[in-house]
Amino acid sequence: MAVARIFIPMKIMTIAGARPNFMKVASIADAIRHHNKEGNSPVIDHILVHTGQHYDESMSQCFFDELGLPRPDVNLEVGSESHAQQTAEIMRRFEPVLLAECPDVLVVVGDVNSTVACALVAAKIQYPLQGISGKVRPLIAHVEAGLRSGDRSMPEEINRLLTDSLSDALFVTEEVAVSNLLREGISKEKIYFVGNVMIDTLHRHLEKARRSEIKHAMGINNGRYGLITLHRPSNVDTRDALEPLVRCLQEISNDLFLLLPLHPRTRAGLERFGLLDEFESNRKIKLTPPLGYLDFLNLLDTATMVLTDSGGIQEETTALGVPCVTLRENTERPVTITTGTNYLVGTDPAKILAAVREILSGMGKKGQIPPYWDGLSGERIVAGLSNISRQGEVNEEVIKK
Ligand code: UD1
Repeated sequence: MAVARIFIPMKIMTIAGARPNFMKVASIADAIRHHNKEGNSPVIDHILVHTGQHYDESMSQCFFDELGLPRPDVNLEVGSESHAQQTAEIMRRFEPVLLAECPDVLVVVGDVNSTVACALVAAKIQYPLQGISGKVRPLIAHVEAGLRSGDRSMPEEINRLLTDSLSDALFVTEEVAVSNLLREGISKEKIYFVGNVMIDTLHRHLEKARRSEIKHAMGINNGRYGLITLHRPSNVDTRDALEPLVRCLQEISNDLFLLLPLHPRTRAGLERFGLLDEFESNRKIKLTPPLGYLDFLNLLDTATMVLTDSGGIQEETTALGVPCVTLRENTERPVTITTGTNYLVGTDPAKILAAVREILSGMGKKGQIPPYWDGLSGERIVAGLSNISRQGEVNEEVIKK
């Protein structure tokens, strides 16, 4: 095994761009703070870059406030565009930042456009000064690597495949991800099974979330309720996809009060197809703007069930033992089905209703916690990264493969 050569301080740059990134980066930022506070070597200089992919108060800033994330050192302020334009704009604006800072490690998380855009810039960069160790670019670390839905019509699947193929250190959340990466020819020396940083953040904030007053504000007083999130383009961008889902939710609301925080894309779809009024006039369905992290976690924690097309929420419900009905044909997070509380039902109303009835009858999945979803994943990642040599080797003793 190569011996790690440590230079002090070490510079780690992390990228956050869209809502699901913030909870993941929060765990890594906490672990870096902890590493430095404990006097570990090397001291880590942490630089946080926000691409600005999400920019609304309710999609971005409120997460920074609630999660205690440091203010971004840089905000690229890219905003919303088509995929190509957004990705290109992030790359264009990120390159000078990377050249100015020359970090030892670039950490990208998840599967959003910001993830792949920044990884691609880093993979091709040439630092102006070649260090004594010959470093000409940062080591690229991908957190939440190896997840595959097998569905290349999902933009996130393209982002995952490309980011993983560009990365030098791949930190995975579940065992299947390891075999996915090996099958794609990624060498096993680069792969580290560390668990789930999103679940670290959940553990850290659950107690505080339980003190939120959101249920009172939503008119839920210890009653049963379902929590719904929908935002996948395949579910909300066409009338053919969205209308049957709206009808199905209307039907479920006969048996269960439903809460639906609306992603901007979903609100736009409902308005475009004239479905918003119908939803708003149903007193058993409550529509809200996107919620902050603590309020949403409060609602997740005590929901009778969750219906979602999100990736991360499949994992959070598994961690909380809450039944989850996933309104997609595939999932890149199979451990939530094999070990957790997730039902993958697709968008066929009959299948959705069957799963909902099973849960309402009290026969819903109880589930177990997947390996290493123990709140310590960020620590494992930072311990591993802090042992990186300038050649890009990770000390294998530190983290489990
Ligand atoms: C992005 C991610 C998706 C993630 C989701 C969580 C990609 C390819 N997709 O999808 O994986 O699950 O974030 O939300 O990166 N908008 C606002 N305010 C904002 C941000 C967006 O109004 O702060 C609106 C804009 O009209 C924009 C639309 O939402 O066009 C979609 O935003 P975008 O970041 O392009 O994709 P998401 O659907 O949010």
